[in-house]
Amino acid sequence: MKLFIDSGNLKEIESLVPLGIIDGITTNPSLLAKEPGDYREILKKICGIVQGPTSAEVVATEADAMIREGRDLASIDEHIVVKVPFTREGVKACRTLASEGLRVNVTLICSAAQALRAAKVGATYVSPFVGRLDDIASNGMGLISEIVEIFDNYEFTTEVLVASTRGPMHIVEAARMGADICTCPAAVIEALFKHPLTDIGLEKFLKDWEKAQGARAR
Ligand code: G3P
Repeated sequence: MKLFIDSGNLKEIESLVPLGIIDGITTNPSLLAKEPGDYREILKKICGIVQGPTSAEVVATEADAMIREGRDLASIDEHIVVKVPFTREGVKACRTLASEGLRVNVTLICSAAQALRAAKVGATYVSPFVGRLDDIASNGMGLISEIVEIFDNYEFTTEVLVASTRGPMHIVEAARMGADICTCPAAVIEALFKHPLTDIGLEKFLKDWEKAQGARAR
């Protein structure tokens, strides 16, 4: 399963990409709105760092304008994936952009029926929002399981990009279900490195080693 960072922050991206575990980036208008500077330059820099799929979302709400915006975003860098929300207009835009050979990530997916529609119009990725579903007492990861099953049944090539993740267990569950990608905030990726038994274990190894060295020197 591929791991993406859900961020528009260059510092976060620069600190995680050298670890070699990051395959791409997802951004959204809320994330980019937090970053100072020109969003096109930020997206270009992100693509240069990650050298992998980088989702950039349209803010237009009408299909023709979404298509124009999508083409413009795609012209920023070869790694840009055009992100469109799952609306009637977004589906129309996805169909056109995909037919032109652009990669489209259909976002704000909150049901399996929406994911199926997006796959049928050529989405490269669908982004189901698991955390936001959990927030309203729905089963976010249950939705991932449904979508993976449906896409497997019909051999859709559309990739399931698990979004709106809140913790490392979302990553583990997504991998167990056979999702293609999990996108996570930097804090969730950092949390992957933390385990108290690892820390305690390492501390003991080093202490034992030091003690033995001291005894030998005596
Ligand atoms: O990028 C889309 C998605 O991952 C947003 O997550 O945490 O705002 O629900 P969140």
